[in-house]
Amino acid sequence: MQSAPIPVHVAIVMDGNGRWATQHGKGRLAGHDAGMKAMKEIVKRSDQLGVKYLTVYAFSTENWKRSAEEVSGIFNLVVKYVNSELEEIYQNNVIVNVLGDYTALPARSVKALDKALARTQTNTGMHFNIALNYGSRAEILTAAKKLAAAAAEGTLGKPLEEVTTEDFSGLLLTAGMPDPDLVIRTSGEKRLSNYLLWQSAYSEFVFTDVLWPDFSPEEYERCIEEYQARSRRFGGR
Ligand code: FPP
Repeated sequence: MQSAPIPVHVAIVMDGNGRWATQHGKGRLAGHDAGMKAMKEIVKRSDQLGVKYLTVYAFSTENWKRSAEEVSGIFNLVVKYVNSELEEIYQNNVIVNVLGDYTALPARSVKALDKALARTQTNTGMHFNIALNYGSRAEILTAAKKLAAAAAEGTLGKPLEEVTTEDFSGLLLTAGMPDPDLVIRTSGEKRLSNYLLWQSAYSEFVFTDVLWPDFSPEEYERCIEEYQARSRRFGGR
């Protein structure tokens, strides 16, 4: 690893579970199960590397269009993950957070997530954000509506003309968090897919052909090195 700074916030689109399953002659859920195992290792390595915020795209608002079997399989994995990993996550001082309306998930998954949030909320280490039932346009629209409502009620605390982009960031699900320095998408797809649209305005993007279940801590470090080799100018010189 080079001496250039480790990204403070890494956001990942964990793509390619289905293709991995097909390649291995397995069903899609076996792909997601393998994807969950990869995710566990990336959480651990992120913490070891000193990443302060890790955000993973686990389920988008568009993913409801998948078969009922696949959708409920992914939600069952959330329960399985919490049951098997929560204690270790807690011991490692990780703070779990969910981006998205997870209350729309089945009761067992909601309960497991509530447990993870409650157990880790007093931790002080790495923030692990799970984007679940998340969609960025809806997130931005909700923030805009909140702003409009506050303006109409006269509770903005300042004239509307003086509202800044920083103020607006504070109305998003990522309020209080730094924007992602690095966005990684696996499986060769090169899209953002309604993920952190506002927050990734100045992020570096690293795309890898590796399918998510095969995304190892070594490949992760390679992506971080690719990020470190770039110079970020934030629109300046
Ligand atoms: C993308 O692969 C993956 C998903 C939509 C789900 C990601 C879920 C996990 C990694 C499971 C664990 C998550 C938690 C929070 C426990 P794809 O199905 O789109 O793959 P394809 O493009 O090859 O079909």
